[in-house]
Amino acid sequence: MSLIDEGREFLKSKEWPEWKVMETDQRKEVPVPPRQKPCPEGAPLVDLIAVADLSVGQLPVIDALAGRKSHRKFTDAGLSLEELSFLLWATQGVREVLESGTVRRTVASGGNRHPFETYLVVNRVEGLKPGLYRYLPLDEKMCRLGEVDDAVARVGEGCHGQNFVGEGAVVFIWSVIPYRTEWRYSHLSHRAIAIDSGHVCQNLYIACAAIGVGTCAIGAFDQARMDSLVGVDGKDEFVIYLAPVGRIE
Ligand SMILES: Cc1cc2nc3c(=O)[nH]c(=O)nc-3n(C[C@H](O)[C@H](O)[C@H](O)COP(=O)(O)O)c2cc1C
Repeated sequence: MSLIDEGREFLKSKEWPEWKVMETDQRKEVPVPPRQKPCPEGAPLVDLIAVADLSVGQLPVIDALAGRKSHRKFTDAGLSLEELSFLLWATQGVREVLESGTVRRTVASGGNRHPFETYLVVNRVEGLKPGLYRYLPLDEKMCRLGEVDDAVARVGEGCHGQNFVGEGAVVFIWSVIPYRTEWRYSHLSHRAIAIDSGHVCQNLYIACAAIGVGTCAIGAFDQARMDSLVGVDGKDEFVIYLAPVGRIE
């Protein structure tokens, strides 16, 4: 099969008849993988603003959709912590925890598996020391993972010279932990994971439009450089998608 044919096959839906008879880890009663990566011991925590207390993001959906577009030029102005809290909630936030422990989020995800983690390179956010952070959606917090030397240049280089990415006030870097989905769907997971990631970034676009800031989806990046920047192993967790966010003229 040619590489193009292989790519097309990957996009086709062939899951269900196969999956119904598959011996998945879930069916083998392997315990469900954690829904959120733990905060490293000793990492400082930052409280985010709870969704009930947000005043931003009130633009009608019709206006946010009409205003959605990609922005690649950002001003030197920063974001407020409230704006960042809103964007994090919109992209991966929790909207409901059921009695069973099931967590429902603001984005759809195949089988409700939610295989992503959100890393942030913070350059200019009110009250936050620049550096690398990770969102903890179940706790409405972020943990600070450390400094990023030459963040603007490193992110730009990690995106094949797309320097505007590193110039965002904050850069969203989504990693995937495929096993969260594989636990249920085994080798049929990966098409769903790719589709899932689009939902996350689309919510970011709409949320950015709702608060008058700019973003741009970034699919072209250097896998090894970005994995190393956020400190993941590139096998059980790796970067899948990015988006800088910044103020626009
Ligand atoms: C999967 C995906 C990957 C993308 N990767 C990049 C990228 O690496 N660099 C970039 O400048 N824009 C990237 N974009 C943004 C598109 O170029 C943009 O959405 C398209 O030109 C349409 O413009 P609009 O978003 O303003 O409607 C990407 C968009 C998607 C959905």
